[in-house]
Amino acid sequence: MRSFSGRDILSLKGFEREEYFRVFEVCDRLAPCARDRRNSDLLKDKILVTAFYQPSTRTRLATESAMHRLGGHVNGFYDAKMTRAGDFYQESIKDTVHMLEYYGDVIAMRHFQQGAPAEAARWASVPIINCGDGWGEHPTQVLTDMYTILKEKGRLDGLHFLLIGDMRMRTMHSVSYAMTQFDIEATYISPPEMSLKEEFKKELHELNLRYREVEHVEQAIADADVIYMEPVVQADYTKGRDERKGEVGLTPANYKVTRELMRKAKPDSIILHSLPRMDELPEEVDYTRHARYWTEAFNGVVMRMALLALVLGAME
Ligand code: CP
Repeated sequence: MRSFSGRDILSLKGFEREEYFRVFEVCDRLAPCARDRRNSDLLKDKILVTAFYQPSTRTRLATESAMHRLGGHVNGFYDAKMTRAGDFYQESIKDTVHMLEYYGDVIAMRHFQQGAPAEAARWASVPIINCGDGWGEHPTQVLTDMYTILKEKGRLDGLHFLLIGDMRMRTMHSVSYAMTQFDIEATYISPPEMSLKEEFKKELHELNLRYREVEHVEQAIADADVIYMEPVVQADYTKGRDERKGEVGLTPANYKVTRELMRKAKPDSIILHSLPRMDELPEEVDYTRHARYWTEAFNGVVMRMALLALVLGAME
């Protein structure tokens, strides 16, 4: 297995089965610290720099909390307009990360341009963690999700995933790569204009993912062990900031999961949603035994603790 020390976490394409289990093992070791709300001193000599060019609640704050839990230090920005990258100069990724690498030991980056963290990794001498790049990927979220599923279902092999939402989304790309490393069968449901791109389907085919596409959640809900959701009413991920204007569309029934619909699901099926949500997952579902998105939120801190500890060489 490749070492994690000094490694960039950019994509789940090429992330191998044993590597998932290695990361999950480190999560198990660090989870008690987060659960007991304790801080350790594992990374007390390290600094995390967060470079967020797009809004975020969960990813940035979970990554920063993870660093605090491990006794490390945090600096960074969450509004590029307040940096030279976002003003008149429009400073390049290369020039920006050439600076940031002197300010910390690891850089967590979210960007509206697909490939921006990979570009940063070309120029930075410290590890780059992709915290979401345009329509590209969201590896730390999906590692969190796979860890959550493993803990909740006790296994990853032999499960059937039902994926509902906009298949252009970065989580959908990362989870599709992740599924190829396990014996997982997938069903995708999305509006036609948000369906899997032909070239991505070709990639999934080459990676031997067993999947089908259907039109309505009712056609597939009974088969699902894991219901993995994203909105279909949502922002443009290629923009740095996207203010909501005018009326907000409603989610068609094909892409919604309601308490009523869950009566047709397997009794032990679980629902994951990386959040934020629109109306595709009404609050009534929160009060069913299927909801796991708050567990997923907690595990988001644990996963970022594990990744920081691994890439900074504090755990091998
Ligand atoms: N799930 C997720 O990426 O949330 P944020 O955009 O709030 O980070």
